[in-house]
Amino acid sequence: MKTRWYKDAVVYQIYPRSFCDSNGDGIGDLRGIISKLDYIKGLGVDAVWLSPIYKSPNDDNGYDISDYRDIMDEFGTMSDFKELFDGLHSRGIKLIMDLVANHTSDEHYWFSESRKSVDNPYRDYYIWRKGRGKDGRKPPNNWTSSFGGSAWKYDETTKEWYLHLFSRKQPDLNWENPKVRKEIADICNFWMDMGVDGFRCDVITYISKKSGLPDGKFNLIFCGEEQYVVGPRYHEYIKELNAESWSKYDSFTVGEAAGITLSNAYDCIDESVAELDTVFSFEHLCVDMYFMVIPHRFSLTKFKKVLDSWQALPNTCQNTLFLENHDQPRSLGRFTGNYSGHRYEAATALAVAMQLQRGTPFVYQGQEIGMTNCRFTDDEYQDIMFRQIMNIVKYIPFGKSIARYCFSRRARDHARTPMQWNARENAGFSSAKPWMKVNPNYKFINVDKDLAEEKSIYKFYAKLHAYRKGNEAIIDGDYKDICPNNRNIFAYERKCGGKRLLVIVNFKNKAVKFNLPEEYANSKAELELSNYRGGGIFMPNMRLRPYEAAVYSLKSQG
Ligand code: NOJ
Repeated sequence: MKTRWYKDAVVYQIYPRSFCDSNGDGIGDLRGIISKLDYIKGLGVDAVWLSPIYKSPNDDNGYDISDYRDIMDEFGTMSDFKELFDGLHSRGIKLIMDLVANHTSDEHYWFSESRKSVDNPYRDYYIWRKGRGKDGRKPPNNWTSSFGGSAWKYDETTKEWYLHLFSRKQPDLNWENPKVRKEIADICNFWMDMGVDGFRCDVITYISKKSGLPDGKFNLIFCGEEQYVVGPRYHEYIKELNAESWSKYDSFTVGEAAGITLSNAYDCIDESVAELDTVFSFEHLCVDMYFMVIPHRFSLTKFKKVLDSWQALPNTCQNTLFLENHDQPRSLGRFTGNYSGHRYEAATALAVAMQLQRGTPFVYQGQEIGMTNCRFTDDEYQDIMFRQIMNIVKYIPFGKSIARYCFSRRARDHARTPMQWNARENAGFSSAKPWMKVNPNYKFINVDKDLAEEKSIYKFYAKLHAYRKGNEAIIDGDYKDICPNNRNIFAYERKCGGKRLLVIVNFKNKAVKFNLPEEYANSKAELELSNYRGGGIFMPNMRLRPYEAAVYSLKSQG
């Protein structure tokens, strides 16, 4: 029986490699997470999403799995996993695993078999094609990998090409093969039988490719997406997986849905379709990036327009509310502009603006203490995406400089610097040199310091999570943007039954005047939450302080 517990839940994402290292090898691990369970509990979250912890050669930090039923050596053992899992459950926190099922590692047994011969029983687990051109030495189509370059790799053994929408060490699975679909359902059941509460499904919208794998339209950077985003058999596959696995448990599934649009979202997540419970759409994160990679100016009105459009989905479709994850730069600065002098206010303003919309909020590790982007030299970047793209652009005039600029704003590495626990060596993340550069600002941005401050971002998040809990107007209430064209303020009403809330957030690092729309101007209101001591004053012509965020409960209408 599905209880849909996720409707009133906040999820905390952990990127295990960068969270906490317990054994001094410079790499975060499961026992490190175990040591921080009370910290996680204190944040008032209901579930943890763990980025992949399975066996992996780590070409893409665990998103290349070589054994779905075992734990990565650096992270620990199955018994550590069980302890972590029990520790979470005993604190009333659920556990969501990362299901990477569009592709495996090329070191997975299925792929090592598959590449052996054209008639190997596992051949059809992957997408193999003959090449084009007289000698078959040209890739079968023009699709590009999300990490740059062709999405095909030629394999000498059988003289055919295999598809990899990510790195060449991440061959795409062939979901047309029912055996593959059964394997994935079995893997889900394996973890859910153990008690895992759900899955974040990696690039799940890519699993069904158009038959014949036709050439894609070139869009300046990437090519082919329209041939596989929510492809022809996508719904059939997800319905089947839901029937064979997820629906048998009180699970929560969230799909990473790159390329999804509002027009196909309903068919993917409405309760009636029995597919995914919700998706991550990235439309709101594209407002300051062309093609998700080329930075440009952030516009609050465009940002609100996208978020408002997703809020307009019916109540039977659950949204996700997030600004950060392990693939995104940090949100402070990105959506607030220069926040100098008001770090606390800026971080908490973003939290309020996002979390009080309708949907399930996700908080990414470090966001709760206001961690920021970092500066990297070429050698310090760790991400395969950086290395691969630099290799390609080196042939283009100014290519490297342009790419460096883009990465300084956009790199996935920004989110992956080690968690900053304290001001001691390596930010308290590890006793050894961490696998990845520690952001030098750890001396003044760290958990210990944040918790000791009166203006603690972590404590504000905890308060916000407690405020959301069981609050019907927030969970199920109607949503209305009350000033969509205002370039400084994000303000919306939430309404459920007789309860009406106004959420008002100043996105600027300066005082801003805000004239309440007429319909609210004569209302009486009580302040329920604020990121300023002493709160704000509700009146027709308000003056909001830098990054001031306030929630009012409307008492009556004049
Ligand atoms: C999306 C994941 O979030 C990202 O980190 C990964 O590189 C790709 N999918 C490939 O699995």
